Amino acid sequence: MAEAGETARYGVVGNPVAHSRSPEIHASFAAQFGAAIRYDKFLVEPEEFDRFVEDFKTSGGAGLNVTVPFKELAHAVVDARDELAAAAAAVNTIKVMADGSLHGFNTDGIGLVADLRANGVALENARVLLVGAGGAACGVVLPLLRAGIAVLTIANRTRARAEALVTAHAGLAGEVDIEALDFAAISQPADIVINATSLGLEGAVAPLPVQVVENAVCYDMSYGPAAHFAAWAARHGAAVCLDGLGMLVEQAAQSFYLWRGQRPQTAPVITTLRQSLQD
Ligand code: ATR
Repeated sequence: MAEAGETARYGVVGNPVAHSRSPEIHASFAAQFGAAIRYDKFLVEPEEFDRFVEDFKTSGGAGLNVTVPFKELAHAVVDARDELAAAAAAVNTIKVMADGSLHGFNTDGIGLVADLRANGVALENARVLLVGAGGAACGVVLPLLRAGIAVLTIANRTRARAEALVTAHAGLAGEVDIEALDFAAISQPADIVINATSLGLEGAVAPLPVQVVENAVCYDMSYGPAAHFAAWAARHGAAVCLDGLGMLVEQAAQSFYLWRGQRPQTAPVITTLRQSLQD
């Protein structure tokens, strides 16, 4: 535990992690409150993850963000999980509690929903198509189900993975109609299409029927040069195309709030980050 008066220490742990923009995002948040924090990037090997988290805690660290490929390991290592982390079976935020225990949270889906809303996207009664069923998808399912949508279709190359996500959330879907498909079976139009595949990193897009993005809101959880889905959707008649930069900042804001009890403004941070990506 950190001693009173010490600069609170946070960080992001991943592999790779060099590309992470989290240090500058959290520095901007802290500056809004005149707070002095330290936020580092930690490159860790998978077999060292548990030891790293333990050492971070015992050396006085206050909180960690967890990125690929450690969100499942983080889910396993924490002492307690919030509902979203439990449903996702993945943790992207660890908080060191006053008693030294580790609490795990998942802020990814909150970040996605917040960014959709910040961009004026109506979620109420929306038909949502979530493309992908891997790590990026699992963190957003429950927050989407809670956002007032009517239909959630999860489409994935490997249909069994989409079905596993549906099964894991079956008792949590409430009034929402939730189903799993493979790409070839997509036939219904959607109001909102969300790319949660990792294909953008390879410069590719999932094989979706073009009609599905026509007139839809298209959200790419990738950002920067990897946002190929957003660019593809824009070329094929999407009504609105958004990349995942806002989600990145919004999920970070929720982590900051969980750690420090203060809600930072996100819009100026998104603007600055977008500018720096274009430079
Ligand atoms: P992440 O943490 O980035 O989500 P992941 O858990 O490996 O990484 O998931 C990657 C997602 O992209 C999955 O939905 C994956 O589909 P499969 O479950 O069928 O593997 C999807 N994906 C990756 N490469 C793909 C490809 N070439 N075609 C279609 N989908 C692909």
